[in-house]
Amino acid sequence: MAKLKWGMIGGGEGSQIGPAHRLGALADGLFEFAAGALDVDAEKGRAYAQSLGIAQDRAYANWQDMLEGEKNRPDRIDLVTVATPNATHFEITKAFLEAGFNVLCEKPMTMTVEEGEEIVRVAEKTGKICAVNYCYSAYPMVREMRDMVRRGDLGNVRLVVTNFSHGHHGDATDADNPRVRWRYDPAMAGVSGQFADCGIHAMHMASFIANDQVRSLSADFASTISSRVLEDDAMVNFRMEGGTVGRLWTSSVAIGRQHGFDIQVFGEMGGVRWASEHPNQVFYTPVGGRTQIMEKGEDGLSDEAGRLSRVAIAHPEGFPLAVANIYVDLAAAISGETRSSLPTAEDGVRSMAAVHQAVASAKADGAWVDARPPMYRA
Ligand code: NAI
Repeated sequence: MAKLKWGMIGGGEGSQIGPAHRLGALADGLFEFAAGALDVDAEKGRAYAQSLGIAQDRAYANWQDMLEGEKNRPDRIDLVTVATPNATHFEITKAFLEAGFNVLCEKPMTMTVEEGEEIVRVAEKTGKICAVNYCYSAYPMVREMRDMVRRGDLGNVRLVVTNFSHGHHGDATDADNPRVRWRYDPAMAGVSGQFADCGIHAMHMASFIANDQVRSLSADFASTISSRVLEDDAMVNFRMEGGTVGRLWTSSVAIGRQHGFDIQVFGEMGGVRWASEHPNQVFYTPVGGRTQIMEKGEDGLSDEAGRLSRVAIAHPEGFPLAVANIYVDLAAAISGETRSSLPTAEDGVRSMAAVHQAVASAKADGAWVDARPPMYRA
């Protein structure tokens, strides 16, 4: 089968997420890296794209040139990844969808709820795929937990507790580093800092595993480094449509925590626990029973966990392969298969509503607010 053609906007040399997309997209031989506008600095971006093997005429100076250059080519890209800072996601994603391209957009998908709803509508109208890179949902053992909930192993889910807390922005003397600063600058990041950056991964994961959507929330935000306009720490309580209670802590000043994303799901018949620093294991405790460690690659796991495990049991798999699993599902979806586990623009706009409503709640001393986008309130 011919490889699908893939392009990327952003993700230039030295960027945080660019390498994970390149490794992920190219891991399975499903895509070839055909085009890119990789950097805000046109010349740097063009040079870097060519150093990665992209042809000179498809190493673009900016996304507008890439759109113009690609749209009439017979061998145009099948998928574009948008891996630029948040403020640019909406216009780039919308323009590419409207020109008939499939898009994988980084989170947060947009800056506003209205923009998010617009992306959902444009994707529906054009019939193109708009996925959002909630890549943690593609770890094999996260899929295992999701299947356990769907099979009823845990019974009714009572409680989800999740943290996404690190300490990498905890050094006040580094707060002006440009790669850190944009995340707390409303013009670049939007209305929220840490909750929009990391908290929404945790909230998406709660919905993904519990198979339910967040209905209402109450938030407490803090800027512990006082020069920051946006929050660097947040505690969010939420309730899901089915009544599940949610508790979420996210922080970027939790010095000592490296990548503290973990999630626990407690049902009436048992509980499960997963942490991104130990992604190959799920700890499962049936009610009244002993805790068992379930290992990626072992016999007896769900089809999903089996399908997405790449190397043998005991061989570690990590973040780029979780991103690769998103690309595997995208390749299948581009070929016309239904992949219900692929995070989409609906997930993107639900996150945006949660972000904006969390900001409103925090301003109102933690008042409970409706967390849903207007288009999903009916
Ligand atoms: P970064 O600041 O490390 O890199 C941004 C890159 O985009 C740079 O190469 C920059 O030159 C380029 N760029 C900026 N504006 C551009 C434009 N208009 N056209 C082309 N290139 C442009 O940022 P980072 O951390 O890589 O984040 C990028 C996006 O990825 C953000 O939306 C962030 O929220 C998301 N992200 C997602 C993660 C995930 O787990 N899904 C993890 C880290 C980031």
